Amino acid sequence: MQTGSFPATRLRRLRQHEWLRRAVAETSLSPADLVWPLFVHGHAASEPVPSLPGVSRLSVESAVRAAAEAASLGIPAVAIFPVTDPADKTDDGRHALDPDNLACRAVRAIRQELADGIGVVCDVALDPYTTHGHDGLLRDGRILNDETVDVLCRQAVVLAEAGCQIVAPSDMMDGRVGRIRAALDGAGHRDVCILSYAAKYASAFYGPFRDAVGSRASLGTAAALGVGDKKTYQMDPANALEAIREVALDVAEGADMVMVKPAITSLDIIHRVKREFGLPTFAYQVSGEYAMIKAAAANGWLDGEQAAIESLIVIKRAGADGILTYFAPEAARRLRG
Ligand code: PBG
Repeated sequence: MQTGSFPATRLRRLRQHEWLRRAVAETSLSPADLVWPLFVHGHAASEPVPSLPGVSRLSVESAVRAAAEAASLGIPAVAIFPVTDPADKTDDGRHALDPDNLACRAVRAIRQELADGIGVVCDVALDPYTTHGHDGLLRDGRILNDETVDVLCRQAVVLAEAGCQIVAPSDMMDGRVGRIRAALDGAGHRDVCILSYAAKYASAFYGPFRDAVGSRASLGTAAALGVGDKKTYQMDPANALEAIREVALDVAEGADMVMVKPAITSLDIIHRVKREFGLPTFAYQVSGEYAMIKAAAANGWLDGEQAAIESLIVIKRAGADGILTYFAPEAARRLRG
């Protein structure tokens, strides 16, 4: 509506002051929205990951300290990613079932120290444990589905037994959520939550993560066998309707929460998933997303802190209830002032 030649509605009115912008902000970000991924290795000293500036592989003891720090910052959960000694990797990834593997040791140590003061999320997938770096069993150049799910069910129970409260199948095998739910229930772990990586794309943005856990080199050896990528199980970034079908199946099979991954390249998917299913929806701001911002900031090409917060806010605006992000501690510190 126009009054004379002046617009009656001036949207800039609400942008005049910092306090006013804060008062009308539609989206807020708090430490409670963040989950901090931690890499745990078997050595005493921390070891920086060159392609993830500010991120290190930690000993179990350091991971416990990081989890305590997360709790004190108001971050509700950490996600544990083991860096398996190559000597413990096999074709069938059987070390995933060892109750004394790094993931289980880290979970036990964190729960022992912090009890229910923090949540611990663990991936259910075989990639940290296989010589070929795939999330599932590899036979004759193919990733086996149902045979892999059998192993994942046992892995989920082993993690639950160690004290993990949230198992997160990140493997993208068909039918795994329902089978893992049944396995957990059958083993008496009815209260363990499933956060399924429901819509996980075959993405180039996982590169630095694969450096951190050592699966890039493993996948390199698999490339010689013609299976150097994960495109036969992770989704094609061209597809959105398929993401909805993936989520629908995982919800029907009993997922308590779902995840979309990567985050910034999937804002449309996060939005649709939240609107259509309405269940707790997480987004994983993956290693490559973090590394891009850090690299640009290191070159002085953008303000890294502002870019980090902006990226997290827009992921929430799209519909995410929570975000797995390597920025978690620095963002939480900044948000707490
Ligand atoms: C393994 C897994 C991956 C990530 C989380 N779990 C890598 C992959 O699928 O190859 C990526 C996370 C990141 O890039 O930060 N199933």
